[in-house]
Amino acid sequence: MGTWIINGSVPVRGQNRLEKKHVLVENGKIAAILDDAAEGAPDTVGHEIIDAAGKLLSAGFIDMHVHLREPGFEYKETIATGTRSAARGGYTTIACMPNTRPVIDKVETVNYVLDKAETEGIVRVLPYGCITKNQLGRELTDFAAMKEAGVVGFTDDGVGVQSAQMMKDAMALAASMNMPVIAHCEDNTLVEGGSFTEGEFARKNGLKGIPNESEAIHVGRDILLAEATGVHYHVCHVSAEQSVRLIRHGKQFGIKVTSEVCPHHLLLSDEDIPGMDPNWKMNPPLRTPKDVEAVIAGLEDGTIDIIVTDHAPHSEEEKARDLQMAPFGIVGFETAFPLLYTKFVRTGRWTLEFLLDRMTSKPAELFGLPWGILEVGRAADLTLVDLETEKAVDPAQFLSKGRNTPFAGWKLYGWPSLTMVAGKTVWSE
Ligand code: DOR
Ligand code: ZN
Ligand code: ZN
Repeated sequence: MGTWIINGSVPVRGQNRLEKKHVLVENGKIAAILDDAAEGAPDTVGHEIIDAAGKLLSAGFIDMHVHLREPGFEYKETIATGTRSAARGGYTTIACMPNTRPVIDKVETVNYVLDKAETEGIVRVLPYGCITKNQLGRELTDFAAMKEAGVVGFTDDGVGVQSAQMMKDAMALAASMNMPVIAHCEDNTLVEGGSFTEGEFARKNGLKGIPNESEAIHVGRDILLAEATGVHYHVCHVSAEQSVRLIRHGKQFGIKVTSEVCPHHLLLSDEDIPGMDPNWKMNPPLRTPKDVEAVIAGLEDGTIDIIVTDHAPHSEEEKARDLQMAPFGIVGFETAFPLLYTKFVRTGRWTLEFLLDRMTSKPAELFGLPWGILEVGRAADLTLVDLETEKAVDPAQFLSKGRNTPFAGWKLYGWPSLTMVAGKTVWSE
């Protein structure tokens, strides 16, 4: 017995419209896809039925940059709560950052995360391993052993790798084993103590600003190192106009550089910050309106490849501290698709296909993953989305332990209503 998901709406490639399809799920895989117009309704006798009438049917979303906080910061999030939050956001595969406690810098910790994900997680969890031991930037980790254990790449996300030589060594080693290096770009000598971008908001409030160059200097440095070593180099959470320019230039030269952007950097600038509210504090910070235009243009012309959330839950107590002491980061899973669908697709700037590609097939392609495509024979990782009901963002309803979002109260369309991983419904409204 299988499950027929009937009457789903699926985007037609290259055309800005949806068509009605029926999808048969058997043994965790997509066994058939019927085009309603050409083939009519399926014979569902003996099968379970999920009626997706009026819903978008998409490959499950893939988020290559998230913080699940386990081990060590279970008060902020666990693999159990983080994957539930992801499922509620329509995500079926997520890649988690190693800035836990202990950090994920050896096989034992990789295995710990994979075991937890297996027993307590409800979506696929792919761990990253650290570039340097304890993320201190002094000594490389054992890449080969962690690759063997199952990491999907190496990163010190949370901090930048300060030494160019260390980064070059990491890239050479990663390249030799065909693994990507994923970089949080931040030169510490340029950020000392800043919480917000060097712009209107910092000036008005007499705060020390974080300059764009603190990010872009690492981007430029690393692109040259990627050219020298031949590694696949992936830039995290691009926020500055200069970074977009450098990545565009690198791609023009055929250097293997790819990059990602977060919803908040596409939608908010420092001029939107309402006041001294730590829910608007993240790293990299919200930049100026000019930077926002640049990252949007970068995504649109392919300079930026994919969309990620940088889901970064923190406790209410931590986020209640004063601005300087509060940690950087906002949660992302449960608002990402509705935000981008409402603000870029419903407004007519992007097609639905454009947005979905950057949240499904493109991340899969970049990291060589077998998911992200709605096709017979693939794993049945699927998401249904209600495109027509308007609802306000209500952090009290989040399945994440984190409530730290600047988007509370935003009225949005595009709410996921069912998430399926390998043929199993892991979350539904
Ligand atoms: O905003 C952020 N939060 N940026 C980072 O680089 C780290 C992350 C976290 O771990 O909270
Ligand atoms: Zn980061
Ligand atoms: Zn991060």
